[in-house]
Amino acid sequence: MLGADDEADLADAVDLLHRGRLVAVPTETVYGLGADASNDEAVVSVFEAKGRPKTHPLIVHVADVAHARMLSRNWTPSAEVLARAYWPGPLSILTERTNDVSPLVTGGRDTVVVRVPDHPAILRLLNALHIRGSVGIAAPSANRFGSISPTTAAHVLSDLDGRIDAILDGGACRVGVESTIVDCTKEPAAILRPGGVSVEDISACLAEHGLAVVVSDDISGTVDTEKAVAPGMLRSHYAPHTRLLVFSTQAEVDDAQREAEACGKRVAVLPHDDDSYEYSRNLYSSLRRCDDQGVDLIIGLLPRPTGLGAAVRDRLLKAAAER
Ligand code: TXA
Ligand code: MG
Repeated sequence: MLGADDEADLADAVDLLHRGRLVAVPTETVYGLGADASNDEAVVSVFEAKGRPKTHPLIVHVADVAHARMLSRNWTPSAEVLARAYWPGPLSILTERTNDVSPLVTGGRDTVVVRVPDHPAILRLLNALHIRGSVGIAAPSANRFGSISPTTAAHVLSDLDGRIDAILDGGACRVGVESTIVDCTKEPAAILRPGGVSVEDISACLAEHGLAVVVSDDISGTVDTEKAVAPGMLRSHYAPHTRLLVFSTQAEVDDAQREAEACGKRVAVLPHDDDSYEYSRNLYSSLRRCDDQGVDLIIGLLPRPTGLGAAVRDRLLKAAAER
């Protein structure tokens, strides 16, 4: 375990990444399982550590807009507007890739997803790696494939201990759900995954520049895996081990709890918050805590789909989907 506030530990993290090793890194959304995106062997080992299919592409994290542009063959007006408005921040941009991005990172695709994360520790690592010639840090969320994304260093340790070389502890993640992914290969842009920047904010920001965004039909948990543009949009994803049931109203949650308990089931009710930003910040640690209680059933309340509520709903619906 390395400390994000410790200069010597940060230098060690850079050195490990530069040598092709795997380091879990803090971001404002969730922890990432980081590898030098310029090192093919390191990238391959990310898929092995995570247990993730190699066709399932990784996000490339970079230090600033200029480094992102260098990886794009076609940096569109919406990409530029969104990058300037939200980076560093919980927004990821899908763009056509240059040959500087290894096809191993993108699962063989001609596109790449790039993002400038908003956490001082990973920005320090990125600046140091760029100086050494790296295109950035390729990092999926630092959980085993199919399980809940980690928002603390302890979550990473419980999922990946023994499979990675180090964890850089930068505290609990401020946003708590993954970045919003926007397809900026064409106009209008399209939201592929709701996340840490709300759909309303993205629409308003683009509208100010005479640009538009559409919300992909794939979101909200009804996606067909084969056709999905972002392979991470599997219906069952981000799932706890315990069965999860979700409802739209508190009355339904209360009824379901009463019924289950009447049948002798042990139930955990997922804590929620009327503020969608608070709900999202605590969502994954709350799910993990419920999961660890050894109950028979977890019951959750779906927030309204405004603000970060859209992302929370999306993750809860996926976590509740039949496996
Ligand atoms: O907030 C986040 O985005 C976090 C932090 C670590 O940055 N990362 C994250 O990565 O959530 P991951 O790998 O768990 O999810 C990335 C999603 C996946 O659904 C992946 O399929 C999609 O982005 N993706 C990445 N590159 C893509 C590409 N070229 N085309 C389509 N989808 C892509
Ligand atoms: Mg993930």
